[in-house]
Amino acid sequence: MSSLSKVKDEALALPWIEQDHLMRALRSKLEDDRQWRLGGVRIRETYQKWSHLALEHLGRSPSKVMDFGAGIYHPLANVAQFNVLHGSEGVGVELDPRFLPDRAAKCLADTIFDAWLHADPEARLRARDYPLDSLRQGEWTDRVTPKVSRFVGDVRQLDDSGFDFVFSQSVLEHVDEFDDVLKALTERTQPGGVHAHVIDMRDHRSYYRSDKHQWSFLCEEEPDGPFCNRLRSSQIIDAYKRHGFEIIVARPQREKPPKHIRRELIEAFSDLSYRDLERTGLRLVARRR
Ligand SMILES: C[S@@+](CC[C@H](N)C(=O)[O-])C[C@H]1O[C@@H](n2cnc3c(N)ncnc32)[C@H](O)[C@@H]1O
Repeated sequence: MSSLSKVKDEALALPWIEQDHLMRALRSKLEDDRQWRLGGVRIRETYQKWSHLALEHLGRSPSKVMDFGAGIYHPLANVAQFNVLHGSEGVGVELDPRFLPDRAAKCLADTIFDAWLHADPEARLRARDYPLDSLRQGEWTDRVTPKVSRFVGDVRQLDDSGFDFVFSQSVLEHVDEFDDVLKALTERTQPGGVHAHVIDMRDHRSYYRSDKHQWSFLCEEEPDGPFCNRLRSSQIIDAYKRHGFEIIVARPQREKPPKHIRRELIEAFSDLSYRDLERTGLRLVARRR
């Protein structure tokens, strides 16, 4: 018997109160782990943010939500929680077909269970719409319930509309042909519908390369990193206004650029205002008129 199975058997033989202490100790250890953050902890943190923003700016539960650029790890985690806890319909839209179905299915089963724990009786009934047994076995399905599905492709190909809450985490900076994509998102949003986006405008190579800083990609004609559109805060806000949105929140993250950055900027960015230069992140909430 492996030492893990032995420890597990011993743990399961403990009185429940000791199992409870053990679970809490393990959970807090795992919560500091980067891989674990791709699952439960990150999902909880992001969902709390989206549900708070939706309720605050819509003044009610959303009826139909879109997780734009939902990612490959847990593409339905946010929309499924909106569905269970608020009864919303939802779509997770993701361009990248790479995917780990087994991991995503198990993660979704955990997420639904977490939501169920915090739910009222009506929400608990909605949790029963999910095929929890097969999700726990790692069996994925894109239309997980009649109201919740994953769409793999560019949002411009999504044949669905009437969304009243569209949200994204670290996506808008990766969107190519931004204006065209924003047009597609606008057309799929109900009048009065709310968008909430967290945008990371730093050069992403600075996370893993010591020779790059947050502004490096503004100093290179063809940066060799992951695709970023390099749009700055004022350009994103202007695009939103042009597409008929009222800006409700535009909360920047500011950082001090390196001293001689102006000299290094390529021509396309040489006219940037100091404001746009120092803004390395943005939380944007906007309402379609
Ligand atoms: C950095 S990932 C963020 C994923 C996820 N939101 C998260 O926080 O884990 C950005 C995602 O946006 C997706 N994306 C970019 N443009 C898109 C588009 N036009 N339609 C759908 N997805 C898009 C990319 O494929 C990518 O997976």
